[in-house]
Amino acid sequence: MSAPTAPKAESVEFNPFSETFFNNPYDTYRRLREEAPLYHNAEYGFWAISRYEDIAPAYKDSATFSSAKGVTLDMIKIAELLKGIPPQLIMLDPPEHDRMRRLVSKAFTPRAVKAWADLVTETIHGFFDEIDDPTSFDAVGDFAALFPVEIICKILGVPADRRQQIRLWIDTYLAREAGNMMMSQAGAEASMAMGQYFESLLAERKADPQDDMLSELIASEYVAADGETKRLTDGEIIGFCRLLGGAGAETVTKLISNALVVFADHPDQWEALRQDRDKVPDAIEELVRFDGPLQYNFRVTTREVTYYGETIPADSPVMLITGAANRDDRVFDDPDVFDINRKRPFGYNLGFGYGTHSCLGAPLARMESRVALNLLLDKLPRYEIDRSKLSRVSMTNVAGWKSVPVRALPAE
Ligand code: HEM
Repeated sequence: MSAPTAPKAESVEFNPFSETFFNNPYDTYRRLREEAPLYHNAEYGFWAISRYEDIAPAYKDSATFSSAKGVTLDMIKIAELLKGIPPQLIMLDPPEHDRMRRLVSKAFTPRAVKAWADLVTETIHGFFDEIDDPTSFDAVGDFAALFPVEIICKILGVPADRRQQIRLWIDTYLAREAGNMMMSQAGAEASMAMGQYFESLLAERKADPQDDMLSELIASEYVAADGETKRLTDGEIIGFCRLLGGAGAETVTKLISNALVVFADHPDQWEALRQDRDKVPDAIEELVRFDGPLQYNFRVTTREVTYYGETIPADSPVMLITGAANRDDRVFDDPDVFDINRKRPFGYNLGFGYGTHSCLGAPLARMESRVALNLLLDKLPRYEIDRSKLSRVSMTNVAGWKSVPVRALPAE
């Protein structure tokens, strides 16, 4: 690991459950990278690393940085209580992780993702067409919050009348009051209601399989380490539905709403994109780097790890601050500059994770984002946002806007 040369700064304060963090973490990230590349927060009881060169290897080293106790701090803190609940894919370490990942990846092959193209386009255009006044609307509440959950739920097999309810449950259980890392009572109830809902849907599909991902998961078989052919347990399937619901519903919403705010600050790049749609995929990668929907993931150390002369004890929660690594000037030129033409010397973007748990849904997320951005480029050639009404979500792990009021401007 890196040389023990970085200065120590007890003065940097980093609280991922504070208003400062929710509103703009990037200044704090810079200080962390420079002054406290290994940071310890005694109040909440976690460590944090923020430099790209430290985070990328940590994501790949599941033997040292385990996901088994959870990838959010609250889950790690109550890991003992959660024992017995079948772990979701995202909370498995290899080799169990790889076995399940291989199995569920069958539902996310390039061919499967390609086959969702019409569904993605129709759903996104359909929601836009329903906006009362498409020249003045809330880009989150009237648009970006609605389509991602609809798409993933449709793929899973959730009936139309329950799809938006899934999002409302997830919004409720990811929300955190400033200063409190734990889920609220309402959050716990929402999480339980969602689990019960998937349990009943699973029973329905077992009795009467349909042409959907849930039925496919029920029928999938794998050869276990003992050579026996097995199927996923009910708990594993429900866990996967919950994971897909959360990952599918929240992230693209945040990406698209972040995009409209970032491009409002860079109208020249919006115009360049409008003129050259081949740049849309690069713009999406830059958005994920510059202001990504997932700012960090937690791991727990399985052994002592030393960075910069300081040792993290075994069994400690460590925050891998992807959002900080993606602004590291050791890797990116002018990292605080948004640039859709940025040369990307690296083949990977930490915003979609890296290594063992890298985002399974990235091809779907990229497809949804391409369709949504292209549509917005068509419908809002010039626009402004009402900054007085912008507000950020206060959620665990995901970052973005709660509301982005946009107004179309006349052509110049
Ligand atoms: C812009 C959108 C998205 C971003 C930025 C994003 C980001 C991420 C990141 C950073 C991870 C790694 C988590 C970790 O290491 O602990 C991850 C994992 C995952 N994502 Fe995404 N995601 C996005 C969209 C989606 C979508 C649309 C889906 C599915 C419908 C999805 C499904 C998953 C799953 C299943 C995992 C766990 C993979 C595993 O544990 O092997 N994601 N995502």
